[in-house]
Amino acid sequence: MKHRNSIVLMVSLLLAGMCITAGNAAGASLSDDRTDNDSGDGLVMVGVSQVGSESDWRIAMTQSIKSAFTTDEGFYLIFQDAQQKQENQIKAMRNFILQEVDYIVLDPIVETGWDAILQEAKDTGIPVIIVDRMVDADPQLYTCWIGSDFEKEGRDAAEWLAAYLGTEGRGEEEIHLVTLQGTLGSSAQIGRTKGFSEVLDEHENWKMLAREDGDFTQAKGQEAMEKLLERYDDIDVLISENDNMTFGAIDAIQKAGKTCGPNGDMIVISFDAVEAALDAMIDGEINADFECNPLQGPQLLETIRNLEKGMTVDKIQHVDETYFDATMNLPELKAERKY
Ligand code: AHR
Repeated sequence: MKHRNSIVLMVSLLLAGMCITAGNAAGASLSDDRTDNDSGDGLVMVGVSQVGSESDWRIAMTQSIKSAFTTDEGFYLIFQDAQQKQENQIKAMRNFILQEVDYIVLDPIVETGWDAILQEAKDTGIPVIIVDRMVDADPQLYTCWIGSDFEKEGRDAAEWLAAYLGTEGRGEEEIHLVTLQGTLGSSAQIGRTKGFSEVLDEHENWKMLAREDGDFTQAKGQEAMEKLLERYDDIDVLISENDNMTFGAIDAIQKAGKTCGPNGDMIVISFDAVEAALDAMIDGEINADFECNPLQGPQLLETIRNLEKGMTVDKIQHVDETYFDATMNLPELKAERKY
């Protein structure tokens, strides 16, 4: 444990401020957001590099981390939003290293390209905890990972579809699918696509017409769905790899004069299960939604607390997740949820 005294803390923050300003002048735009703090005495410094604020899910995840790491709990949080750019995440991590934070938390936008910066952190002895998405790097370069089983989410979604088509008497029918993919190269995209594809391959009558990149945002989801609707007039199923792309896609479907959901022209399967998606399901626009749990702050906090006590933590930690479909009592389930 390397707790800073207040002078070291002030100097290092000044240095970080200079680096961030220099980074901005060079064209990067890091948003540096420090939680309220006292002098910093005795607090554990944690630098968090967040992907961005591209989705409702992401905003809930950021909130979960910020409300877990408070000064009352003994932490000084330096939070940086990388605005969906890997180069910003690498700059942020370098600043955290310069500041000699006690821990770095990285939510990597994509899986590749982290070896050098992870090695720098390791060389200076700063533990790195990966959250949400995963890195494709030597596991010795990070302490542990906390996040979702994206492949399982994808498989569960496809298995749900197979069961649903069966109950609708469409098990043998030729089914035309399209997919809106999240940020290409991110674990959430790779895992969901892979998991779904495994089950897709078992169904000869399922035809994946196209996969389009919607970058996990509502605007790009709508744009990509508009293109798909122009190209294909016989889409039976939309697989959308997050809720915000789904919201955009629903707008596109309605603009094209079509309907979706349990009584519509198109089956819609989404991922995340944020509050607005459950509302859309209650309104009959989404058939099923596979949860991606953004409430990772408490588990991250507990992990860092255990590391502070010198304990060994599990290298791979999955968060609990479920799913929702239109047959459930959604208003009641929604009332119990926090995002
Ligand atoms: O990495 C988790 C994914 O990223 C969520 O599904 C999505 O909403 C977010 O942008």
